Amino acid sequence: MSEYLHPMVAHFPIVLVLAAFASESLALLGRMPAWHTVSLWNLGAATLSTIAAMITGGLAAPDLLSLHPEAERILTEHIVWTSVATFLIGSVFAWRFAQPPQTTRAHRLAALGLLFICCLVTAYAAHQGGMLVFEHGVGVDEHP
Ligand code: HEM
Repeated sequence: MSEYLHPMVAHFPIVLVLAAFASESLALLGRMPAWHTVSLWNLGAATLSTIAAMITGGLAAPDLLSLHPEAERILTEHIVWTSVATFLIGSVFAWRFAQPPQTTRAHRLAALGLLFICCLVTAYAAHQGGMLVFEHGVGVDEHP
């Protein structure tokens, strides 16, 4: 059962961090301040779901003892980069949460830049997860 959980949960942080970036861009470019709040709570939900993805990923990984060396290498990278993504997303959320609602435009731009980095790191880490499944059959084939 635990092997089904990771694919079910892992797509939430990807879409939520992209939504946080999109709503922050909309707030800044369209001068619509309410979207800053939308972005903040998307990022909060992204933080919770990355933690859930780390836990479910950890539950899926011990089932994969006999991996091809290349798949093992990608899994190691996947774990490293998803850890970096989780740390970044959580830190940016904590930083933004601590800011007063009426913050400066410079802070807003810095937040947008950091969100962009979060998106890049998450996309790269998730791409490695996709490679595990779609190129190496991890979690799909009986004997990957
Ligand atoms: C932010 C955290 C994480 C994200 C966003 C993430 C994302 C993904 C994605 C998108 C896939 C492809 C799923 C599919 O399309 O079926 C995947 C697969 C996989 N990930 Fe992760 N992952 C995360 C953390 C982890 C961690 C910490 C581990 C191991 C300790 C892990 C182990 C795996 C494994 C073994 C697979 C292939 C089999 C399966 O889907 O269960 N992941 N991951």
